[in-house]
This record gives sequence, structure tokens and C-alpha cells, in this order.
Amino acid sequence: MSLIGVFDSGVGGLSILDEALRQLPQHDYIYLADSANAPYGEKSSEWISARSLSLCKYLADAGCDAIVVACNTATAEAIKHIRAEVLVPVIGVEPGIKPAAMQSGNGIVGVLATEATLKSDKFNALLATLPNHCRFIKQAGAGLVPLIEAGKADSEETLELLAKHLEPIQDAGSDTLVLGCTHYPFLRNAIRKLLGDTITLIDTSEAVVRQLKRQLEQIDSASKLTKGASLRDHGAVHFVSSKDELTLLKMAQDLMQSDLDSHDVSSSLLGSIQ
Ligand code: DGL
Repeated sequence: MSLIGVFDSGVGGLSILDEALRQLPQHDYIYLADSANAPYGEKSSEWISARSLSLCKYLADAGCDAIVVACNTATAEAIKHIRAEVLVPVIGVEPGIKPAAMQSGNGIVGVLATEATLKSDKFNALLATLPNHCRFIKQAGAGLVPLIEAGKADSEETLELLAKHLEPIQDAGSDTLVLGCTHYPFLRNAIRKLLGDTITLIDTSEAVVRQLKRQLEQIDSASKLTKGASLRDHGAVHFVSSKDELTLLKMAQDLMQSDLDSHDVSSSLLGSIQ
């Protein structure tokens, strides 16, 4: 069995943890939410980079065999530094603009992500690799993350703000929408209410977890997964929050589809880190 660290600025990465528990339920997980500092998307590159590195070092020190940076913003700003300093495999997430370009019928694709992600060199370098027959309508989802963090993903307030952000995407005639922030899959119902059922939503969590699985198989063949492998169906999940661990636990139960009762679940508050 492996211990996997999953980190996000807050509850967004629960969308990745949910998929990880579906594909890889037998492993142990630490989910780390930096909710005291969310949202990251409107902070400086330097701050995001330094904080993300400290949190990933914390997960590596806690014994994680692999770390998922389950945050598009932290991946865009920090993954290079994290990989340079943390010795375990580090998997990142990025907006699925490539699959979106492949799946779009009319070549008009909306991208909803944080301001930091959309401005980042990493995102723009990825964009530059795509064929220019596709038009990307980029929209920063300012204000959405705090609403999701406050448990208001399905509220009127969220619906109103989301409607404003989606307007340019809708007006352009997009047939595909990239959910470029791990918080946004939790807005799926609200997005469907506003845009209907025909628009294709692109969420990369499945692909990210497949990548995690490949990394774990490599670690396995190099060493330890086999020791005691498959003796149990469900591992433990430990939730760590920099703000309030009980709220995090409650939100995990509310937002995730996975049956957390079949895992050994615990939580704690993040102490001071370097
Ligand atoms: N969940 C995040 C992402 O994927 C971060 C959002 C934020 O904190 O602004 O970008």
C-alpha cells in the first residue's frame, strides 16, 4: 500500500480525491486543504509558489510516497520548484484545453479558471501548442472559490456570479467548457442549470488519477506496494486543514460521491510549518 498526499488551496482537490478513492481505494491518503489561505488564484506567483512548496514538503515529511498537487493554480505556479525539491513523484493538474480542443465540434471552447492560472507561463505555453483553428474564450472565475469554500456551491448567489462569468463563453457559442480549477466540478449542477445539457464539460480528474496510478505502479515495481498489497479493499483517509478540520470533514462528506464510511477517516488541524 502507498500513502498518497493530495493538496489544494481548499476543498477543490476533493474532486480529485473522490476520483482517487474510486480508482484506487486500497491506498492511504492525506488530504491537505489550505483553506485558511484560499483562494490562491488572486495571490502573487511568489506567494503561491513558496506556500505550495512548503505544503508539499510537509506531505513528503509525513511519509507520502506520491503527491498530487490537486490545484491548477499551484501546479501552474509551483510544480517545477516542488519537483526540484521534493523527492517523491509529484503529479499536477492543468486545465484540459487539449482534450477540449479535440472534443469540440465547432472549435469554440470556454476556459473557466483562476486569474493566476490563466496568466501563468505554464498555461500560456500549453495554449501555444494547440492548433489555432480552436478559439479559447478565457474567463477568470473571480469570487467562485470563496463561495464553494463557504458551502454555497448551489446557492442563488453562486448562480448569479457564475452567470456573469459564463456570459462571454455562452455569447461566443462555445460547445465545450473546460473546468480549469479543481473547485469547479462542484459547480456542475449550477453550470448545467445555466448552460443546459448540451455543452461538454471537461474535467481532468480521471486522467490525473490514471497518471497517479501509473506512478504508483512504477514505485511498486521498484519496491514496496507488493508488501501487504491487496489485503484490504479500503485504506485510511486523513483530512488536514489549515483552518478548521471538522468543517473540512463535513464538506468532504457533503461534496464527495465516495462512501467515506468504508474508509478509516480522521482529521487534524495543520500545525505551524516552515
Ligand atoms: N482549486 C484551485 C485550482 O484548481 C485553486 C483555487 C483558488 O484557491 O483560487 O486552481
